[in-house]
Amino acid sequence: MKLVLLGPPGAGKGTQAASIVEKYNLPHISTGDIFRKNLKEGTELGLKAKSFMDRGELVPDSLVVEIVVDRLSEGDTANGYLLDGFPRTVVQAEYLNDFLEKNDDHLDYVLNIKVDPNVLVERAVGRRICKDCGATYHVDFNPSQVEGVCDKCGGELYQRSDDNEETVTNRIKVYTDETSPLIEYYNDKKLLVDINGQKDISDVFTDIVDILGE
Ligand code: AP5
Ligand code: MG
Ligand code: ZN
Repeated sequence: MKLVLLGPPGAGKGTQAASIVEKYNLPHISTGDIFRKNLKEGTELGLKAKSFMDRGELVPDSLVVEIVVDRLSEGDTANGYLLDGFPRTVVQAEYLNDFLEKNDDHLDYVLNIKVDPNVLVERAVGRRICKDCGATYHVDFNPSQVEGVCDKCGGELYQRSDDNEETVTNRIKVYTDETSPLIEYYNDKKLLVDINGQKDISDVFTDIVDILGE
């Protein structure tokens, strides 16, 4: 199964991705996570991406498509994958399309997680992430049992540097301007399925399983 998760910052892409990849045994390919990992390791790619991410701007398409095509060419993607946060522009979507067509392949679904814009800032600013295993929490909506400590592995929780109000506000604007045209793009290709992202986290997942099948 080859899936794309679409949705504004804070919609719940990463949260749902964790459950989807576990249930369907798919590799989780998040371009945001790839950039953050590179930044942590101090690679050139990480440093290049940082300035854009800190401002809430998109990393240039030329940098993004190259890393995704490399990742999609790895062996573990043969039976499918979940793309989270890619594509984010029509140029990226066209690139993915060409890559799939070249391999005589296609996407199965583009899950469009819909959330009212006025809850997005609150969701992103309250997010906390485990330094060790990447599990995602929210200080109010999905708190860890012990503040600052991961339930799953005991790791320390941190806040992403782009999860402040100013940067999140710009990320939402960038989403509206540059990414939301993909809704129509994938609707025209009959791949788009809308998901109500404003239910409880587990109910959103139930709705996704209803679409993807048991
Ligand atoms: P990226 O890491 O992809 O961030 P994003 O798209 O802004 O999305 P988020 O990760 O913020 O939100 P999410 O939808 O995953 O929400 P989550 O599940 O964590 O990208 C970061 C940056 O990298 C970009 O700004 C850009 O610079 C660059 N980049 C990445 N990909 C790129 C690309 N393809 N092209 C160009 N540049 C790229 O949930 C958020 C919070 O809400 C959590 O605290 C969670 O616990 C809570 N929550 C989740 N679901 C619910 C619910 N149902 N009810 C209540 N709370 C909930
Ligand atoms: Mg995410
Ligand atoms: Zn953890």
